[in-house]
Amino acid sequence: MRMKKINLLGIVSGTIILSACTKKDINSPGFEYMPDMYRPYGLEYYHAITVDGDTIWGALVPPANTIARGYKPYPYPNTAEGYEMAGQNLKNPIPYSEEVVKEGEVLYTKYCIHCHGATGQGDGKVAAKLPGPPPPYTSANILNLPEGKMFHTITYGKGLMGSHNFLSVEERWKLIHYIHKLQGKNSTTASDTTANKNLETASATSNKK
Ligand code: HEC
Repeated sequence: MRMKKINLLGIVSGTIILSACTKKDINSPGFEYMPDMYRPYGLEYYHAITVDGDTIWGALVPPANTIARGYKPYPYPNTAEGYEMAGQNLKNPIPYSEEVVKEGEVLYTKYCIHCHGATGQGDGKVAAKLPGPPPPYTSANILNLPEGKMFHTITYGKGLMGSHNFLSVEERWKLIHYIHKLQGKNSTTASDTTANKNLETASATSNKK
C-alpha cells in the first residue's frame, strides 16, 4: 500500500517535472504551477489616483489625524522643553527583573557598547574617535538623570549620539534597566515601578498642561 503511494507520487511528480522540459522556446520561463506563490496579491494596499489627468497606482495614504493600530506616538517634541517634560512624566513601564536586565544587556552590547564602553565609562572603541566621549554613567549628572530623560535621549539622540528610535519602546526601557545596573542602582532605587505609568498615561498628563 505504502509502496503504491510512493510510486504514484513518483509518476505524478516525474510527469510534472518532465513536462517542464518540453517547452520549445528556451527563453520561456515555463509553465507556472503555483502562480499565487510568486505573484503577490498586494493590490489592496494600492489605489488608483489621478494626477494631472493620468491614472496612477499609489499607496494608500492614511486619513488625516489617524494613528495606525498598535502605534503609540511619542508625545514629547525634540526640544529642551520636551526633554524636561519627558523627565518629569515618563516612568519605566517594564517591571525590573533579572531577565529584563539580561535582555537590556544584549541590546546594550549590540547598540551602545562601542561608544559607552562595557561598563558604561564612555570608553568604547568608537568613543575614542569622538571629539567628546560620552560621559560615564556613574558621573554625577547621569546618576541623577531621570529615566524619562534617558528615554528621550535614546529616542531622539543628543549631541554626538544618534537617535535609536528604531528600537522598540520596550527595548529602550530594557536598556534603561541595564544602564541602572551599570550605575550600581538596584531594582527599588532604579525605577518607581509602583507608579508604573505607561506612555499612554504620560501623554494624557502632557495634554493637561
Ligand atoms: C556614537 C556613539 C554613541 C552611541 C552608539 C550611543 N551613545 Fe549614548 N551618548 C553618546 C554621547 C556622546 C552622549 C553625550 C551626549 C551629550 O550630552 O551631548 C551620550 C549620552 C547618553 C545618555 C545620557 C543621556 C542624557 O540625556 O544626558 C544615555 C542614557 C545614553 N547615551 C544611552 C545610550 C544607549 C542606551 C545607547 C544604545 C542604544 C547609546 N547611548 C548609544 C554617544 C553614543
